[in-house]
Amino acid sequence: MRDNNLLTKIVSLCKRRGFVFPGSEIYGGLANTFDYGPLGVELLRNIKNHWWRTFVHQREDILGIDGGILLNRRVWEASGHTTGFIDVLVECKSCHKRFRADHLPKGINKCPECGGELTEPRKFNPMFKTFIGPVEEEAAVIYLRPETAQAIFVNFQNVVNTFRPKLPFGIAQIGKAFRNEITLGKFIFRTLEFEQMEIEYFIQEKEWEKYFEEWKQLMENWAVSLGVKREWLRWRAHTKDELAHYSKRTEDLEFEFEGEFKELYGLAYRTDFDLRNHSEHSGKDLRYQDPKTGEKFFPHVVEPSFGVNRTFLAILFSAYREEDKRVVLRLKPQIAPYKAAVFPLLANKKELVEKARRIYLSLKEEFNVAWDDRGNIGKRYFAQDEIGTPWCITVDFQTLKDNTVTIRDRDTTKQERIGVGKIKEYLKKRIS
Ligand code: GAP
Repeated sequence: MRDNNLLTKIVSLCKRRGFVFPGSEIYGGLANTFDYGPLGVELLRNIKNHWWRTFVHQREDILGIDGGILLNRRVWEASGHTTGFIDVLVECKSCHKRFRADHLPKGINKCPECGGELTEPRKFNPMFKTFIGPVEEEAAVIYLRPETAQAIFVNFQNVVNTFRPKLPFGIAQIGKAFRNEITLGKFIFRTLEFEQMEIEYFIQEKEWEKYFEEWKQLMENWAVSLGVKREWLRWRAHTKDELAHYSKRTEDLEFEFEGEFKELYGLAYRTDFDLRNHSEHSGKDLRYQDPKTGEKFFPHVVEPSFGVNRTFLAILFSAYREEDKRVVLRLKPQIAPYKAAVFPLLANKKELVEKARRIYLSLKEEFNVAWDDRGNIGKRYFAQDEIGTPWCITVDFQTLKDNTVTIRDRDTTKQERIGVGKIKEYLKKRIS
């Protein structure tokens, strides 16, 4: 049974347990911004590391870069963003709320909040503008990147010249992107500042459909490998009028957030649009030379684009459970903020505490582990279940006799006894 209050519960858990806080909260907040707390930052990093490992380290054909957030403004002229990256917005004449025209249900011409009359649609470019240098004049305008992709195209020649990769090959990047979003998103779903994990996969034109299909599988499988529920995913092809200015075909991998399918990731066939345009605008020859035939041409591009923050949200939606008296986040151990928690059975027994501290500090050399000696054991288990810690290790009186501990599994709640010397191996085996 779907829980219609899931989002409210997740927002509350995220705030209460230090995953996500409202942005600039002490100043009354800043709409569409959030800050990630001590547990949220761990989950974010684990998601990004998992992605990098899967698509960069474990593959031979993809190289990583880390390009700038600020790029020469001509980049955005060449990429078509200054003219083609447009949202159409309408405003309610009564309550003055703004909506993206493409987010309103078809045929709706009244404000969905108050029923007021809507203004005529107005075009709006969601790129954030700022200025280089002390003078705020047109010539000094620069944009915060709205996608990470362009730094990849701009560095295409640098990567080819230094690494000589052969087609097909990809260039990957993880980083912040910024969009002046005008409609309020739900929680971290649509924010002004977010992170993308993108690959520009360079191919021969004739092979684009094959690689498009291949990337669909890879994207979906990767999300599922992190615990995103496959039954809450679906692919949806963009209609002609939805397609971005650079795309010949785009499909979104959508996730069902509270009964409504919404874009989790996008997969686009960008043709040779970007390299060709950057070549024309920069005057640099960005063609690839086939090492066998010597032929020069612009490679075509299939672009899988993953949102870090939407992955975070889809994982929480998929992992959240209410069972008997406990709330449990069934996070995959690979991405759980803490891999284990260590407790002394009693906080006022010096020998137990000292032994538990030694185990805790030794585990900390290799894993992110939590320490807790407050309240009773049952409460500590529940507190760790709620933040998704897969294993709880308790040091009790038997530990002092035979150097074994209990290790409790979050999902089964079953405990077993293992030797202290075996804990690291136990965790490693289950996390990799
Ligand atoms: N380079 C292609 C591109 O940027 P996109 O569909 O506009 O395509 C890709 O964005 C992904 O970035 C989305 O699927 C989503 O996961 C994430 N994303 C886009 N806008 C976002 C926002 N305002 N807040 C959070 N994530 C966002």
